[in-house]
Amino acid sequence: MPVLSLGYLRLGVESTAQWKSFADDFLGMMPVDGPLSGALHYRMDDYPPRLVVAESAAPGLDAVGFEVLDRSDLREIVGRVEAAGVETHAGSAEECALRQVTGFAAFDDPSGNRVELFYGPVLSHRPVDLPHVSGFVTGDQGMGHVILNATDTEAAYEFYVGVLGFVERNSLQLPGGISYFLGCNPRQHTLGLNPADGPALLHFMIETESIDDVGKALDRAETLGIPMMQSLGKHTNDRMLSFYVYSPEGHATEIGWGGERIEGAAPTYRITEGAIWGHRYTPPPAGAKGLPR
Ligand SMILES: [Fe+2]
Repeated sequence: MPVLSLGYLRLGVESTAQWKSFADDFLGMMPVDGPLSGALHYRMDDYPPRLVVAESAAPGLDAVGFEVLDRSDLREIVGRVEAAGVETHAGSAEECALRQVTGFAAFDDPSGNRVELFYGPVLSHRPVDLPHVSGFVTGDQGMGHVILNATDTEAAYEFYVGVLGFVERNSLQLPGGISYFLGCNPRQHTLGLNPADGPALLHFMIETESIDDVGKALDRAETLGIPMMQSLGKHTNDRMLSFYVYSPEGHATEIGWGGERIEGAAPTYRITEGAIWGHRYTPPPAGAKGLPR
């Protein structure tokens, strides 16, 4: 079987102090104690922390974690990755404990983005406590989606589609090349490939259960002084109603609601606009290290 869903994100940041307010008070995730000393751990559901933020001398994406079915599937997919000439690392028991998973393997994608394939998340049976959000849409659609920079989008496409088993849901011609939106479950896209120098995380998206959650997040952004990157809008591909802000590191972070579910095989298509309406871009505030869209 192919990859199942986006499982978790591990980010390296300059300051966890700034991220604490961003993730607790704005994103509305549940802060929990976790195994990685000094890091922030956030639950969204009964899975182990979906977001782990640790201070790093080299801020950026530490790893994107994709879930696979079980030990047998991990072995099979890792075999395909190695057959494609990519070196892999088998997670040790200690490394598994830090991620609260039963097993994982790590490798770099063709652009140098660190990917971890895991199985057997260690579940929490204490109900998730989300005072700001009625709930996050996860389950068979996973944590949300990520857009990664791909230095060579065709090589990245071949890797994620040909080796890991994603399917192309749609594409978009950009001035610098073609952006691909890939799926692996009913979420319209779990992974986007952005034609720009990598490795880099362009943005990540989390989806809430109610339209009011998005409206309340807009209110919180204003109250907390979190800079807006793209105004409220609706995407042409996943039909998500969403907006984007700048994280403390200047990364785009998207909060959405109402994404389309794709059931079964669906023909791919090319879009010519990113939004049906809205998503008006605001440059990063003066002095901020904003990243390009
Ligand atoms: Fe997005």
